Amino acid sequence: MKKFSAFRIHANDAGTRAGLEQISLDQLSEGDVLIRVHFSSVNYKDALAGTGKAKILRRSPLVGGIDLAGEVVESTSADFSQGDKVIVNGSGLSEVHNGGYAEFARVPVDWVVPLSSGLTMRQAMILGTAGFTAALSIHLLQQNNQQVEDGPIVVTGASGGVGSFAVDLLHKLGFEVIAVSGTPEAYDYLYELGASKVVGRGKLDVGEGVLEKTRWAGAIDNVGGPILSALVRATKPWGNVVSVGIAGGINFNLSAMPFIIRGVNLLGVSSSNCPQGLRKQIWQRLGGDLHPHHIAKIHSQTARLEDLPDVFEKLLNNEIQGRVLVEVINE
Ligand SMILES: NC(=O)c1ccc[n+]([C@@H]2O[C@H](COP(=O)([O-])OP(=O)(O)OC[C@H]3O[C@@H](n4cnc5c(N)ncnc54)[C@H](OP(=O)(O)O)[C@@H]3O)[C@@H](O)[C@H]2O)c1
Repeated sequence: MKKFSAFRIHANDAGTRAGLEQISLDQLSEGDVLIRVHFSSVNYKDALAGTGKAKILRRSPLVGGIDLAGEVVESTSADFSQGDKVIVNGSGLSEVHNGGYAEFARVPVDWVVPLSSGLTMRQAMILGTAGFTAALSIHLLQQNNQQVEDGPIVVTGASGGVGSFAVDLLHKLGFEVIAVSGTPEAYDYLYELGASKVVGRGKLDVGEGVLEKTRWAGAIDNVGGPILSALVRATKPWGNVVSVGIAGGINFNLSAMPFIIRGVNLLGVSSSNCPQGLRKQIWQRLGGDLHPHHIAKIHSQTARLEDLPDVFEKLLNNEIQGRVLVEVINE
């Protein structure tokens, strides 16, 4: 049987090892749709999985990569035909199912999203889970009646993948954006994406009170820990804070006061297990009214499968701005 390249992760109690291997189709996971993968991407979660810095894989070994875009090769479902361009993101890839870091992937039909006519496969994977999550967060803000006139929205971890697209999309929708970043070299970039103010990490200047003077109308938080508490305590009445990430910590102290006195909402977002109907809607919006203005600027580098270990280390050391596209086959 013909072999093809895959970036496989072996994780067990003794540790994690990952690298390029030659595998065959019968080593892929089960599913209805076989996809020739063209592009994938590198997310924070991919770096954690590939380095073993957190336990992401619930089965081993698995092909890494929580995102993929490609063309259908075979489908036992009438919903897809050979040649259809499709996306899969999250849904169990690189957790319980072989992911996007291989020339082929086989997945259940329920996970497959048709590529929107407003996106190329390449653009879809520059977006990847990061762009998807930024758009999903904004969708949740809008559903919770966040209005431009309410005031500025804070984006933390702003120079990362989710942060960059959140800044871009909020600005596109007319919101004033306060970007919080620990990377001074990224300040100009964040202004170019649409931030009206850039604040250094740790410089948000919120006190320790259960309710602080209100400073913003909402937030998209990629960092977690004490900053998430600060964001909620200084949000205007009826504003919304979306908790996306934990790049800075998982625990925080918060009283119920912002919720019951100000009607502030703390919204959770989970891209991996997002209901499929909503997932398709968000990808449609990314090809339409939520098509970011600055996809090319946010795309900072293109990697091949063999480059992944180096990219993972850099991403976890906060040395990467924006998004890394993974070119799985030569276009
Ligand atoms: N809930 C979901 O569905 C979902 C989906 C996607 C991602 N996430 C999570 O969201 C976060 C961002 O993901 P991503 O793919 O955008 O990652 P990324 O590209 O690596 O961006 C993370 C950003 O966070 C900031 N940061 C890094 N280390 C930090 C630290 N120790 N303390 C404070 N800030 C730090 C940096 O931005 P600055 O230098 O600009 O501060 C960095 O660029 C991750 O925690 C990821 O796991 C969650």
